[in-house]
Amino acid sequence: MKVCVIGSGYVGLVTGACLASMGHDVVCVDKDPSKVDAMLNAKPHFYEPKLEELLKSCVKDGSLTASSDLQEALKGSDISMIAVGTPSADDGSVDLSFVKAVAEEIGTFLKTNDDPHTVVVKSTVVPTTTQDVVKPILEKTSGKSVGDFGLGVNPEFLREGSAVSDFMTPDRIVLGYEDETAQQALKSLYEGFDCPIIETSYANAELIKYTTNSLLATMISFSNDIAYLAEQIEGADEGMVMQGVHADRRLTSITGDSKAEITTYLKGGLGFGGSCLPKDVKALNYFAKTQKAESEMLNAVLNVNAKRMQQVAANIERILGNVKGKTIGIAGLAFKAGTDDVRESSALKLIEILKAKGATLKVHDGLVKDDFGCERCDDLKALAKDSDMVVITTPEADYKNADWNALAKSMNTPNIYDGRGVIAYDEAEHSFHYFTVGKAF
Ligand code: UGA
Repeated sequence: MKVCVIGSGYVGLVTGACLASMGHDVVCVDKDPSKVDAMLNAKPHFYEPKLEELLKSCVKDGSLTASSDLQEALKGSDISMIAVGTPSADDGSVDLSFVKAVAEEIGTFLKTNDDPHTVVVKSTVVPTTTQDVVKPILEKTSGKSVGDFGLGVNPEFLREGSAVSDFMTPDRIVLGYEDETAQQALKSLYEGFDCPIIETSYANAELIKYTTNSLLATMISFSNDIAYLAEQIEGADEGMVMQGVHADRRLTSITGDSKAEITTYLKGGLGFGGSCLPKDVKALNYFAKTQKAESEMLNAVLNVNAKRMQQVAANIERILGNVKGKTIGIAGLAFKAGTDDVRESSALKLIEILKAKGATLKVHDGLVKDDFGCERCDDLKALAKDSDMVVITTPEADYKNADWNALAKSMNTPNIYDGRGVIAYDEAEHSFHYFTVGKAF
């Protein structure tokens, strides 16, 4: 099929490259000419494993091209996918201006287009958006009705760091449509995928996306609530408590050999960040209020997350005393391991709190190049040297496997605060003071 993907951000570019590699003929459209040039040169403008190789082969064999001319790119296409950003304000309200502008342009194309065409909303939008915002714009600008052209919703479930594999081997594909043209186009687009395909209404498709991310965030906040409680109880260890919880047959097979992957979200840590979970929970929470169905649960999920780094900073102060003039090394800047994305990163929140208290900060991250006004270290040796504490903020394999005994020797005081529980600490083997989430000290 000929697919036009509009918006070459994280979702648009990964989707475009993956669809091209599956044999579709894809054109990725972006207003920003530098992004178009980067795509034509097979250089993603963000870091994502496997994406560059994929782009290289698709650009080379001609299955993927890029343009900043939307009307031109739409010509002859079977499907247009709206994959532009839906930024949210602090209150959680979603800014739909990019989605609306693109819908208008597609409507203009549809006005004179006589071939079958389906418009797909790929951007994350709250329920009612496709029905009440996108559909009326398309119908008004084109002078046609849904049915004359197709309209569908197809949310994405890609995780940063494994987006390409997530696309290629999805857990499920969600297709929201209300007309036959969209049904046929979407089913042809995803023909050959071996996973459950959920066919439903626009509103359900939109809500499935938000509910999935809100559930993940809920589990993280719940775990951090328990971790904070355990931190107050002598002898309690949230890590051990969660091992007991994970053993429940609904989370681990009865033979004990296969743990549900979701159990990773049931573990204390430093809270959730990134470009999706915080934004989507806020958006759903705001939307629920507008529907007079305010969610006490989502409010709590956000409140627990907002407090988490303050709790961690307070723990650090209990260990070090006044942090003014103390040197603290932060191992990990990204919002999670395996990415250079620092949006809503817990590490940056911690840096801000500790800086305000007068601590001197050193930072290390293998992928993030910015120093955020701190001393940037190229390796863990430099980070540990003369520090009063090292805080591990992302579960990077390098941090898990580092020789912390050796590193601790060069520290001013050998304190390691393991914010992600990555070190298999053994009192007999380790010669540093070890602190971790969910454990009193
Ligand atoms: C998330 C979802 O996991 C994807 O399914 C979804 O498609 C995506 O949002 C999206 O909406 O686009 P992502 O933002 O890449 O993906 O990140 P996650 O791996 O879910 O991590 C989110 C945050 O939760 C991170 O800050 C991470 O450190 C934290 N987290 C994650 C934990 O604290 N514990 C965990 O076990 C896992």
